[in-house]
Amino acid sequence: MEVEVAKSAGFCFGVKRAVDMCYDSAGGEKNVYTLGPIIHNDEVVSELAGRGVRAVEEDEMESLHGEGLVIIRSHGVSAAVEKKISDMGFEIKDATCPFVKKIHRIVDEYSRKGYFVLVTGDEAHPEVIGICGHCATDRIAVVSDEEGLDKALSSGGENLLVVSQTTFNLKKFKNFVEIIEKKGYYRSVYIQNTICNATEERQSEAERMSKACDSMIVIGDKTSSNSKKLYGICAENCENTFFIQTLDELMPHAGKLHGKVGITAGASTPNNIIQEVSRYVRDEL
Ligand code: F3S
Repeated sequence: MEVEVAKSAGFCFGVKRAVDMCYDSAGGEKNVYTLGPIIHNDEVVSELAGRGVRAVEEDEMESLHGEGLVIIRSHGVSAAVEKKISDMGFEIKDATCPFVKKIHRIVDEYSRKGYFVLVTGDEAHPEVIGICGHCATDRIAVVSDEEGLDKALSSGGENLLVVSQTTFNLKKFKNFVEIIEKKGYYRSVYIQNTICNATEERQSEAERMSKACDSMIVIGDKTSSNSKKLYGICAENCENTFFIQTLDELMPHAGKLHGKVGITAGASTPNNIIQEVSRYVRDEL
């Protein structure tokens, strides 16, 4: 079959950096932990576990007696969580993506200046929880739809900072900004589009490809926010879109693929899975 693989498919800079940090830290004297799975990908997490890099949750940390190295994943954590780990005695390696770090700095700075902080994103996502944990006040809201936006801003005020989760949908962000400016909820508004370039590129490439292809395959973990968004974009433009984690998951749908097949993948999808899927579609179907 004719296949086009998105140039932007696979590990982004921040994820690659975090995963490399884990491999580099494995096999030493110290116990190595990641706070939560290093990426949304079961294969990579299990392989790392085989090399002694264990994913632990925050509530398990106490039982580890502060011994070892904790790697903070690319999503980042709140200032309070980082302090807690360090106070427990762990050594910390910070793999927070520099683009997420930048949001932490902006939120910290502007909240201290008295700005109300609006984050566009998913309030349950670890990146957003981490971002909120850098706000110096409780004057912060997370919104993901227009209704939430109106509710969060309707009481109005002087100064508003708007930032975004790095993987937020660009179109949606621009739409929110338009509404904020039109409704004039706040007298002064400082807008920072903190959607990362890797996400923007991936999303625009997915949009272009899904408009041009007859079938689309999105490879990514079901819990990965940026993969789910890619699926949403592709499904909007191409009815024949499939969201899979591994080649096995494609098998039951293989018969439905037709015409030109586009393949894209989330930022936490390893290259070997992308290659495996593209080889199969190109050579076996
Ligand atoms: Fe960083 Fe962007 Fe990836 S924020 S983790 S480079 S999607």
